[in-house]
Amino acid sequence: MEPLLTQDVRKPNGYTLDFYVEHDGYAGLRRALGMAPDQIIEMVKASGLRGRGGAGFPTGTKWQFVDKKSPNPRYIACNADESEPGTFKDHVLMERNPHLLIEGCAIACYAIGAKVAYIYIRGEFLHVQQVLEAQIAEAYKAGYLGKNILGSGFDCDVWIHRGAGAYEAGEETALLESLEGKRAQPRNKPPFPAVVGLYNCPTAVNNVETLCNVPLIVKNGAEWFAALGPEKNGGPKLYCISGQVKRPGVYEASMHVTLRELIEGERYAGGAREGRTLKAIIPGGSSVPVLLPEQLDVPASFDAVQKAGSLLGSAGIIVCDDTTCMVWLAENLLHFYRHESCGKCTPCREGTDWLHKILHRIERGEGQMRDLDLLASISAQIGGKTLCAFGDAAITPVQTTLKHFRHEYEAHIREGRCTLVADWRARQPIGAH
Ligand SMILES: Cc1cc2nc3c(=O)[nH]c(=O)nc-3n(C[C@H](O)[C@H](O)[C@H](O)COP(=O)(O)O)c2cc1C
Repeated sequence: MEPLLTQDVRKPNGYTLDFYVEHDGYAGLRRALGMAPDQIIEMVKASGLRGRGGAGFPTGTKWQFVDKKSPNPRYIACNADESEPGTFKDHVLMERNPHLLIEGCAIACYAIGAKVAYIYIRGEFLHVQQVLEAQIAEAYKAGYLGKNILGSGFDCDVWIHRGAGAYEAGEETALLESLEGKRAQPRNKPPFPAVVGLYNCPTAVNNVETLCNVPLIVKNGAEWFAALGPEKNGGPKLYCISGQVKRPGVYEASMHVTLRELIEGERYAGGAREGRTLKAIIPGGSSVPVLLPEQLDVPASFDAVQKAGSLLGSAGIIVCDDTTCMVWLAENLLHFYRHESCGKCTPCREGTDWLHKILHRIERGEGQMRDLDLLASISAQIGGKTLCAFGDAAITPVQTTLKHFRHEYEAHIREGRCTLVADWRARQPIGAH
């Protein structure tokens, strides 16, 4: 499949309004404004578009859930927090193809009956924000945003809200809290944002890449979009490949592509570094279970990766070769989760700290065999016991490395050192405290 979302990202002026309009940009919005809002929702449903933010939930269904009976205004909240480790695709779209997102926001607003979309952007993305703001201003000037868009009578505003840099702010209800000026902590669900969202009004929260697919669907049709990928996994997909491969980067492909093609293919990441072999693959950002090299032939689709025992998540594919110590990997990730826990739910706040401390002592060669049961027990007391999916995400690196690489934990404990890496003591200590 030729790229559809990223085909122009390397062109110097590919991000400008003139370039976008010359290449059929805003044709989707024009078409959408001639349709009934419900028709667009039906079209997006028929296309099979699934959310690209992590859960893979069908976008059209989410839009249909937005409460139309409420007398309150409705909102689109675009999730541009992009904080899942291993994930770095959304900022490419915002910086290099900003009008695709702006067009997607306007169509989404029209479809659910909203007049305002907020783009909640990760705090560190200052440059991306500047580009996006300048292009939003261009879109207003050209009549693609603002009052009476393209003479249709439809009004739509797009605002950018910059976060302060917290992973939890990407969780949809924490994002809404943060947009309201409060701490980014999750809400109890139900009610879901589609019914009680931003300022207690019906809200659809959609990822950047998800919204960028919407103009393609409206322009080219639901069937065209669905046919680009396997059943229920239609459309183009961005994959972020990082770790120990020859060419890490963002790659666009149909979800027919296999993990092996993405990781080893010459068109993509080019395989493990010279003289090294693959050891483990985390296919959907740091929060999902590890897959092993013998599982690489599965298609990189939501359904196939789930069937293989993991999740496609945000499609942040983290590749580890035979030099990676899996105890160190788990410690590294738990250092992140411990730091990023918002602190609202006790099991997550306390548990991530305990897990990190235990992993740290095992990694330093000071662990005991009974620590392995302790890791499993603490993880079990976090999983499913928190308001949001952060808790489940945080225990995954522990559970998955214990499942597949228990021998590495045992070797650390038995030998009092890492047996894999000769200069393990020179390794950057993670979060010693
Ligand atoms: C801890 C946590 C962090 C998340 N971070 C992000 C994020 O940075 N970007 C994102 O789009 N979704 C993130 N999500 C998923 C969102 O809660 C939500 O499912 C998503 O924005 C919905 O959009 P989609 O349907 O288009 O995928 C996160 C979820 C959790 C639990």
